[in-house]
Amino acid sequence: MIHTIVAEGFGIRHRPVRMEDAPFLFWLRNLEHAKGKVGDSAADVASQEAWIEAYFERENDCYFVIETACGVPVGAWGVYDMTDESAEIGRWIMQPKTPAAIPSIIPGMDLVFNEFGLHSLRTKVVSSNRRVILLDRQIGFKETHSEPAAQIIGGKPVDLIHMEMKSEDWPQIRKNLMPMALMLEVQVRKWEQEAARAPHLSSVL
Ligand SMILES: CC(C)(COP(=O)(O)OP(=O)(O)OC[C@H]1O[C@@H](n2cnc3c(N)ncnc32)[C@H](O)[C@@H]1OP(=O)(O)O)[C@@H](O)C(=O)NCCC(=O)NCCS
Repeated sequence: MIHTIVAEGFGIRHRPVRMEDAPFLFWLRNLEHAKGKVGDSAADVASQEAWIEAYFERENDCYFVIETACGVPVGAWGVYDMTDESAEIGRWIMQPKTPAAIPSIIPGMDLVFNEFGLHSLRTKVVSSNRRVILLDRQIGFKETHSEPAAQIIGGKPVDLIHMEMKSEDWPQIRKNLMPMALMLEVQVRKWEQEAARAPHLSSVL
């Protein structure tokens, strides 16, 4: 049931990952800008398919492809370790040069806070990923603590910065994000039209 949920808005759709997304996810997670910033990825498409197969068995895990309104895939993210109260979000990767990251936030957060009714969201960022730590702060996450050598990524131990957002803070954060999301929605729609004319721009069409 949880694997059928869809959220839409700002020219973006979050739709549940399907088995046929394996090549896209394999490609996305192995892009240079994502390496070392998310957990180690599948080594080939078959391993990605095996990962998706195991994911389908987990009831407290939602993995989404982020696509444009016309269905061009631009990224992915997930909500997992979900309890009645809270969950972790992560696996967030966007294809570079798409203006879809900020527009994707409002429908995604509305989903977890309003539809799932969660009270808090946690996220973990590799400490060297300064850009995303700054971005998460700008979005409205607050740092709670750091965890030294919390995970091995690419064969090396990495420190993780733990961050959190409370549901009571979301309405104001949402209001602050709205003008930027509306402005970028126009760019997402333009980008989508260009991608339709020149499919190499969206790489896995
Ligand atoms: C994380 C990721 C999805 C973000 O997507 P992105 O395309 O880089 O994000 P964008 O550049 O469109 O959006 C961020 C911009 O919005 C700005 N912004 C965000 N919130 C804002 C706010 N409330 N007010 C004003 N500006 C804001 C940021 O400053 C940034 O602008 P900049 O590029 O001038 O610095 C992407 O960088 C990525 O895939 N990274 C690799 C994987 C990764 O690190 N994932 C996170 C794991 S925890």
